[in-house]
Amino acid sequence: MLVDSFGRVATDLRVSLTDRCNLRCSYCMPPEGLSWLPKPELLTAEEIIRLVRIGVERLGVREVRYTGGEPLLRRELVEIVAATAALRPRPQVQLTTNGIGLARLAAPLAAAGLDRVNVSLDTLDPEVFVRLARRDRLNDVLDGMAAAAAAGLTPVKVNAVLMRGVNEREAVPLLRYCLDKGYELRFIEQMPLDAQHGWRREEMVTADEILGLLKDAFDLVEDDPGDRGSAPAELFLVEGGPRRVGVIGSVTRPFCGSCDRVRLTADGQVRNCLFAREESDLRAALRSGATDDELAARWVAAVAGKRAGHGIDDPSFLQPARPMSAIGG
Ligand code: GTP
Ligand code: 5AD
Ligand code: SF4
Repeated sequence: MLVDSFGRVATDLRVSLTDRCNLRCSYCMPPEGLSWLPKPELLTAEEIIRLVRIGVERLGVREVRYTGGEPLLRRELVEIVAATAALRPRPQVQLTTNGIGLARLAAPLAAAGLDRVNVSLDTLDPEVFVRLARRDRLNDVLDGMAAAAAAGLTPVKVNAVLMRGVNEREAVPLLRYCLDKGYELRFIEQMPLDAQHGWRREEMVTADEILGLLKDAFDLVEDDPGDRGSAPAELFLVEGGPRRVGVIGSVTRPFCGSCDRVRLTADGQVRNCLFAREESDLRAALRSGATDDELAARWVAAVAGKRAGHGIDDPSFLQPARPMSAIGG
């Protein structure tokens, strides 16, 4: 088992398949992109599958989420999903994507064993989309979400980051759209994980503000908080339910105390937290001939050292050097 010194057990493994992306969301990276990891540094599909197998067979991992960068850019994705779904005990297999390419890939991914997807969508206004993501791809994203729903990758969850002065006015239209389509929308507080290190707490649209915006247009009642488990989202019934909307208050309402997540980066580093300062190099161990037992032991040690929380409010807080796009959402 992957247990830390606070007794939390990591059962949700989030694997970044690439740090590359075909969008340039301004809360994530600069317009010119980043210097991407060179190919030899990326884990191969075989290496990824081996590590995921060790996680599932020996370490109690029950959910595997593939992320990026943009995971649909990874050519072997369908094969990686199929190999993951073939593991025993079979883990839940999930994907967090920006949706571009999903129109083509949703059906093959579902056939390979993918259980569900979360798609990022911050606006329905094509001009705001271009301003925010710096690419004109809104329709590809919407088509991708529809294809995911049609392929049974449900519930389709939608992640929206609100940025002050950019897309706050989108909150209500986004919720209307998602309710209409049957997607579960969650609004996310922006975290200090951008490559540019431009995050300012005062500029962040808080969970309270988001709820205020939504409550102007909808009747919201918190869904059974006792049911939340380790989920980042607080859920609210809209107009009496059963449809729901979520708020992920990572900064002002941290959920670190019930965290069950551990991450593997595209270059094979275990991170025990989004905000971890240390990483454990499984790739080096793997490429120097480590056995499954040795890799598992290294992984257990990496999780044991997990801190209590992200510490964003601590005076000594340091933003991690690795940006969100290279960690995985
Ligand atoms: P499901 O609800 O089970 O689909 O999973 P999820 O909410 O974890 O999925 P997703 O990958 O879409 O993550 C949604 C958002 O939650 C991310 O974009 C992050 O903003 C936030 N989040 C996920 N994991 C963590 C975490 O470990 N710490 C913090 N602070 N935020 C997280
Ligand atoms: N803060 C909060 N969420 C972020 N995401 C990307 N960068 C940030 C950030 N700095 C979200 C994306 C996507 C998910 C993987 O993480 O919108 O939905
Ligand atoms: Fe790409 Fe996701 Fe970053 Fe947007 S937030 S640029 S979709 S990695």
